[in-house]
Parts: sequence; structure tokens; C-alpha cells
Amino acid sequence: MSDAPKIAQKAPYPVEVEAGKNYFWCSCGQSANQPFCDGSHKGSDFAPVKFEATEDKRVFFCGCKNGGNGVLCDGSHKAL
Ligand code: FES
Ligand code: FES
Repeated sequence: MSDAPKIAQKAPYPVEVEAGKNYFWCSCGQSANQPFCDGSHKGSDFAPVKFEATEDKRVFFCGCKNGGNGVLCDGSHKAL
């Protein structure tokens, strides 16, 4: 497996998160359950990144896996 993450999609995934819940964002791009980790990173150098929701709200998880803000979209996908 290469060092670069796979681009799952060049757009964020909007998700309604719930306060107090933990979410495990897929950093490798290989998961079939985007934007979350499904274990497909095993055997690579990638690992899921925990996102802890502190309130009920909609967040935009990064789908391109190349953003500068890790878990959350920062608009970097527009330059891909
Ligand atoms: Fe991508 Fe786990 S499947 S980090
Ligand atoms: Fe990755 Fe927007 S989807 S920065």
C-alpha cells in the first residue's frame, strides 16, 4: 500500500453527530463505510482518527483525506 491516502471523494461528508459520541474517521480512504473506519487500513501505516462530538450538530468530515485540518473538511479538496 502506498503512503498516500486514497481520495474517497473530493468533497466532505455531512454527518449529524450526537453530543458525547465518538466517531472514528477513516484517514486512509479505503473504508467502504465512508467517512468512517471499517478496519480496511489494517496492514498500512494509516489509523483511524477519533472525533468526539461535544454537541448535536452537523459536521463535514473530510472525504478527500488530503485536507489540512485532518478529520474535518477545510476546503482543501477544491485544489485537488
Ligand atoms: Fe481507513 Fe481505517 S479504514 S483508517
Ligand atoms: Fe477533504 Fe474538503 S473533503 S478538505
